[in-house]
Amino acid sequence: MNFEISEMTESDFNTIADSLATDFDDFWSKDSLQNELANERSKCIVARRNSEVVGFASIWFGVDEVHLTNIVTKKSFRHLGIGKLLLEKLIDIVKTSGYKTFTLEVNEQNEVALDFYKKYEFKCVGRRKKYYNGVDDAIIMTMEIS
Ligand SMILES: CC(C)(COP(=O)(O)OP(=O)(O)OC[C@H]1O[C@@H](n2cnc3c(N)ncnc32)[C@H](O)[C@@H]1OP(=O)(O)O)[C@@H](O)C(=O)NCCC(=O)NCCS
Repeated sequence: MNFEISEMTESDFNTIADSLATDFDDFWSKDSLQNELANERSKCIVARRNSEVVGFASIWFGVDEVHLTNIVTKKSFRHLGIGKLLLEKLIDIVKTSGYKTFTLEVNEQNEVALDFYKKYEFKCVGRRKKYYNGVDDAIIMTMEIS
């Protein structure tokens, strides 16, 4: 299957906003997604299959590092390589922006995502105790860009 990666537009937001909970695992509220799209220090990208939005990812540009704020594939399109395409595009953006460090946080219970990030040589560098809902720890991961 072919997927196209591009910058997220307001029209993409309108397309997926009402299906976040059902199709995308409730990854963000509509408001959070809209705020991210409007944030000048953020970049949001989408994956498309024909005109259908099947994945989303975003980063935030800090002072000396870029943070992965979200990455999600539409439930019915998982394990088809979309996550890899999105992450590779983001790594490319981080590199060409001149940053040397790419960071993220992931729920310690999210084995699929942990496995995914390790494939891209993100290393576990710390832990935020009970970060998610006061229960699960967040694993802090970092990729050093050469
Ligand atoms: C994590 C996520 C974005 C991966 O997206 P995806 O499009 O399914 O990813 P890909 O198909 O490119 O697979 C990338 C890797 O993820 C892991 N993975 C994906 N689906 C998996 C599954 N069902 N079981 C086990 N590992 C899986 C594998 O390591 C895979 O590499 P492989 O193809 O060499 O086995 C997706 O599972 C998702 O949207 N999860 C819910 C949101 C989430 O948890 N986001 C991360 C927040 S930190």
